Amino acid sequence: VVSGDTSYTGKVDRQRLWDRHLTLAGYGALPDGGVDRQAMTPADAEARRQLVAWASDIGLTASVDAIGNLFLRRAGRRDDLAPVMTGSHLDTQPTGGKFDGAFGVLAGLEALTALAEAEVATTRPIELVIWNNEEGCRFPPTTMGSSAFTGHLPLDQALDARDRQGIRVADALDEMNRRTQVADTRILGGSLFAYLEAHIEQGPRLEEAGYPLGVVTGIQGLRWFEVEVLGTESHAGTTPRANRRDALQAAVTMIHELAARCSDREDILRFTVGRLDVSPNAPNTVPARVRFTIDLRHPDAESLQHYGDLIAPLCHELAGHCTVAVHEQPVSQPIRFDADIQRLLCECADSCGVPYQLLPSGATHDAKWLSLIAPSGMLFTPCAGGLSHNTRESADPDDLARATQVLTAALKRLANDV
Ligand code: GLV
Ligand code: MN
Ligand code: MN
Repeated sequence: VVSGDTSYTGKVDRQRLWDRHLTLAGYGALPDGGVDRQAMTPADAEARRQLVAWASDIGLTASVDAIGNLFLRRAGRRDDLAPVMTGSHLDTQPTGGKFDGAFGVLAGLEALTALAEAEVATTRPIELVIWNNEEGCRFPPTTMGSSAFTGHLPLDQALDARDRQGIRVADALDEMNRRTQVADTRILGGSLFAYLEAHIEQGPRLEEAGYPLGVVTGIQGLRWFEVEVLGTESHAGTTPRANRRDALQAAVTMIHELAARCSDREDILRFTVGRLDVSPNAPNTVPARVRFTIDLRHPDAESLQHYGDLIAPLCHELAGHCTVAVHEQPVSQPIRFDADIQRLLCECADSCGVPYQLLPSGATHDAKWLSLIAPSGMLFTPCAGGLSHNTRESADPDDLARATQVLTAALKRLANDV
């Protein structure tokens, strides 16, 4: 147990932190209390603008890089040293909640605000970062901003990705930057001393175990596929079975078989078909084109490889009279977080008097890519019913504040480590 004076963490303001979640949830608000703030939409830009305004109140300086990651920097006494970074994302799912991403950003802002109010200077600079397009639901892949920042996704490829309306990231990004009005640009990438990210757990484990805080041990691996099945449009009333090239029937057969093959007895593997686009999507025309996505996850790299490698051959085998193409995004391998950072987070939780549990992450996070270039770690808070990617996503203001105190203590420790 580290004693050390952590009285400055008393400046973390539970009410301000909570109110800011509610304010941000106003950008892209849905009628049922949820949030639709997909990446690089006007709502995303407006949320960023609000954040930049809060950050400038405590003297942080804003800049954006070529993939739209937004940085808010607090100077260090030795400002040339590699910064400590913390943050998360502000984009959401189409039926998102108030906390996924927003909490990590607002926790970082609250930590820097607490340090400012307590007049605590640090040796290293601390940067609050808003990773662009973490969700990837509008523009694949997921964690676009952080994977480009760390050099794992080529910038050209990221800028060239399109949404379902055919809008390119490059154009959506220009529009977002115009609305956000952050003039300063910075070079993509760079070195950092350490990275911390706070997030709601998005699963049920902490709540079930009765812990207010989790120290995250690692993140499971992820493979994203898009399957495109091509047939022929023809009349629903006249085309005999033998003459049909029905892309939807073929896709349904594939999905049914893949779901059966991708179900392990232990229930560790995660298999999801989350999107199905049918064309022409008319009741009396045999569908000629279907595209569907597969999100596949497993904590073990070999199992992820094994199950993922079943997909393309099975789709080809089940295509019948149709043709099929399987496209895959770059694989995101499972990672384990740095042991020293995990220890530091546990010590800071102890010194703030917050009970915690160690646990792995089922969701993916920007911290995964950061962990490949700098010592990194994550803190989780429980969320009600373990529910996330849902408009009813909810968390306890006290849990959020306590996790933010631990984050503040850890940032200060790291930023004074030279
Ligand atoms: C992040 O939202 C994920 O898909 O895990
Ligand atoms: Mn998230
Ligand atoms: Mn998410």
